[in-house]
Amino acid sequence: MLYFSKIDIYLMFMLCLGIESTAHTFGVGIVSDKGEILANSKDVYKPPHGSGIVPHDAKVHHENCKERVLEDALKSAGVDLSDIDLIAFSQGPGLPPCLWVGTEFAKKISNENNIPLIGVNHPVAHIEIAKLTTGAKDPVVIYVSGGNTQILAFAGGRYRVFGETEDISIGNALDTFARKVGLPYPGGPKIEKLAKSGKYVELPYVVKGMDLSFSGIVTAAEKLYRDGVKLENICFSLQETCFSMLVEVTERAVAHTGKKEVVLTGGVAANKRLIEMLEIMCKERGCSFSSVPMEYSGDNGVMISWTGILAYKSGQRTKNFDPISRWRTDEVEISWMK
Ligand code: ATP
Ligand code: FE2
Repeated sequence: MLYFSKIDIYLMFMLCLGIESTAHTFGVGIVSDKGEILANSKDVYKPPHGSGIVPHDAKVHHENCKERVLEDALKSAGVDLSDIDLIAFSQGPGLPPCLWVGTEFAKKISNENNIPLIGVNHPVAHIEIAKLTTGAKDPVVIYVSGGNTQILAFAGGRYRVFGETEDISIGNALDTFARKVGLPYPGGPKIEKLAKSGKYVELPYVVKGMDLSFSGIVTAAEKLYRDGVKLENICFSLQETCFSMLVEVTERAVAHTGKKEVVLTGGVAANKRLIEMLEIMCKERGCSFSSVPMEYSGDNGVMISWTGILAYKSGQRTKNFDPISRWRTDEVEISWMK
């Protein structure tokens, strides 16, 4: 087996520093072009109790922590900016005030140190970090987060959307219900905990073709809460219903594409019950299942660094560095996959 010391890695391989700032997380990651993760530093904005993200407050949070998070990443990787060969930043989609902080910071570091700069699509980065950390090569991807719910697979040079939500994302559904019943943001982990001691109560199940809808389920869950149904039971049913819907659409995407791997990514990939349900479906269909490790499931700078390396090495160059607040996953050319 080949063994490289840390110092060999810096000298022999390309290092990319990636900056994430699309929403609540300000993150800096450092990755080598061999996929070695050297740093994953972040600081997460917490909204005031009972509220969702306040974009201006998240921006101020990012402004206040950016230098510290950068220093922390360089320190934990044991490198200086002079060792960095490429800067990548999350160019969109996201909240414009938050995106601007990351963009301006990335431009500044790039200019001052004369390091090339590349813009990265945030959802594509969630997909690529899942592939890097699980070893999946060409999977059906379930991308579930605060802003997105999509079932994707590579076809014709892009990650095509095979199924998605028609209204709010699953993370938003969990966070919204949590807020309405007085649980703090992010609601997903709290709901997961309460669901452990819950029993089933009926909620609507909404799958239309390959698409999903969550807003009616949240309204029905809120009504159950007002009617005095035990919170644990509602949390249990909310998870069972929403996750079954996701599993159903994923199973059909696997059947349609004939892919042999399934990976789960995005903030909601931290949920153990969702993982368990997908494992069962994949076992029955004879395909492999893996989930991005928890430290890379939510927003992070590592996924931006790694995707920056893939894009840069396959010849992509960013011409306009302004944030792109609306940027669909299937608009991005995946030039690093054949
Ligand atoms: P996007 O990629 O759409 O921009 P995002 O910026 O909101 O997403 P992520 O960090 O990817 O951020 O995901 C955050 C979401 O993950 C929140 O909705 C949160 O409730 C959810 N989440 C985190 N942990 C869990 C869990 N254990 N179970 C369910 N949901 C979870
Ligand atoms: Fe995200």
